[in-house]
Amino acid sequence: MTTVPETDPAPFDGFHPMFRENPYPAYAKARAASAFSPFDLGPIPVTVVTRYEAAASILQSTDWGHGYTAGISPFRPGVKAEDVPASFLAMDPPDHTRLRALVSKAFTPRMVGGLRPGIEALVTSLIDAGLDAGEMDIVGDLARPVSVAVMCELLGVPQEDASMMGGWGRAMARGTDPDFMLTAEEIENRVRANTDFGAYFKDLIALRRANPTGDLVSLLADVEEQGDRLTEKEMLDILALLMVAGVETTVNLIGNGVLALLRNPDQLALLRERPELAEYAGDEMLRYDPPVHFTIRVALNDTTVVGREFTRGSGAVVLMASAGRDESVFPEADRFDITRYAGATPARRNLGFGLGLHYCLGAPLAKMEAEAEIRELVTRAPKLALADDNLTYLTSLAHRGVTALPLTLA
Ligand code: HEM
Repeated sequence: MTTVPETDPAPFDGFHPMFRENPYPAYAKARAASAFSPFDLGPIPVTVVTRYEAAASILQSTDWGHGYTAGISPFRPGVKAEDVPASFLAMDPPDHTRLRALVSKAFTPRMVGGLRPGIEALVTSLIDAGLDAGEMDIVGDLARPVSVAVMCELLGVPQEDASMMGGWGRAMARGTDPDFMLTAEEIENRVRANTDFGAYFKDLIALRRANPTGDLVSLLADVEEQGDRLTEKEMLDILALLMVAGVETTVNLIGNGVLALLRNPDQLALLRERPELAEYAGDEMLRYDPPVHFTIRVALNDTTVVGREFTRGSGAVVLMASAGRDESVFPEADRFDITRYAGATPARRNLGFGLGLHYCLGAPLAKMEAEAEIRELVTRAPKLALADDNLTYLTSLAHRGVTALPLTLA
């Protein structure tokens, strides 16, 4: 059990399953009390960071990182850097710098832009099918197939393997939650998916080394920085990271975002009137109900954050979803307003894609997918309504979203 100093507010309860449908009132309560709340994450006492300034300053500070190289992470005690996947999401400089630089070379705006026509065509055909049927599950029939297809296209995986890839991605995504939250079956599925994914990509990497085709696997196999190359393990870990970081997140951005539109009919009407706002609606969806609610950091040195001292090795859960509702940064923060990021003076950047060294590499791609799907949906479907109000939220701590979002379209 954590010993809570008398000056601290009550322990944070916003991750309790009873808040799954709507954690925001619990976040607001914690935020009102302090920027920092004590929290027991299973056996680990850590601090939850709820206000924008504190969250942003931790994410931007080089005094905070993951601490595996130094062996000081309280989130995975005893875990050494060599046991952590080489996916750079959980690395500190200089390892993070090296791998991110190599991957960024392959992950260019030109490559991302080249995916747009394919995304738009797929979105159109899926919405055509939904209109014919008169109903569609936005998560399972639109967001997920688009997201998986985009990832396959990016990685150079043939579309006939897309559904297998999607299944692996979902099973592997459960690895973003701590093991004690998962059932034995979920852990087993995840381990099997990791093995199958690794075997599949080992073959694909060998194929692309022999015959490069311009996809990301070919580019990663070829990428060089000051004579540096990626090892096969590094490549496999990076490909798994892209799959996990890129698919579930984007699916849930769209699911949560469309739900927000339905629950705010004035904003849906506005978007129908001005579909060009779809370009900015994604940012507001990311602020209002983001797919990733938090990330973790470890103090690499003794340090101070907005007046609060942390000793080296302290753990922080940075609650970006709460920071997005911080009234001192976002006026009327609980209001969903798709014009917030449009116009000459857009709102401050929200933390839904993170900030600093680990800022999301796939942000432009995710935004493009969201824009294409939302624009097409509101302009093509004359009426959108929830077919079933009884929504089920994912049990995941790391990913926030509904398991299905069935809509009637006409
Ligand atoms: C709406 C969709 C997405 C959301 C909300 C999201 C969110 C995030 C967040 C919060 C981080 C930072 C994590 C941290 O600081 O600990 C991150 C990092 C990352 N994301 Fe995304 N992401 C999305 C889509 C994507 C896509 C489509 C890709 C790839 C195609 C991707 C690839 C990555 C990678 C590689 C990192 C690690 C960056 C680093 O450690 O330097 N993400 N993402």
